[in-house]
Amino acid sequence: MPDQPRIAHVGVAVTSITEALAFYRDVLGLEPRAPDAADGATIVSLPFGGPEVELLEPASPDSPIAKFIAKRGPGIHHICYEVDDLDAALARCRAAGYRLVDEVPRTGAHGRRIAFVHPKATGGILLELTTRA
Ligand code: CO
Repeated sequence: MPDQPRIAHVGVAVTSITEALAFYRDVLGLEPRAPDAADGATIVSLPFGGPEVELLEPASPDSPIAKFIAKRGPGIHHICYEVDDLDAALARCRAAGYRLVDEVPRTGAHGRRIAFVHPKATGGILLELTTRA
């Protein structure tokens, strides 16, 4: 019996992680995890004890996060769902005709296996799927 899917994190596009961290550090008292880099972005995760918040700062002007911010402004960029079996979930996406950004899983931030599902398939929200750590 597969485990219940969970929300792993919410990805938030910011222009400056340093500026964004002030709220999480000074108001909420959260200590950020060490930064990582993926998809042309610097990524800092905030441990909430359940689903985390991932701050995404563009590392270059032509990165996907930079383009997102230019088009829509800073804000929620994606939601990451953690599933029992990523390959099986992607196979179900393909069978149902959901458009995938990543046809095969790849390595994302913090060395996790991930794949993105296109927002056209999911009500306008970019979805990241990952496996349980
Ligand atoms: Co993510």
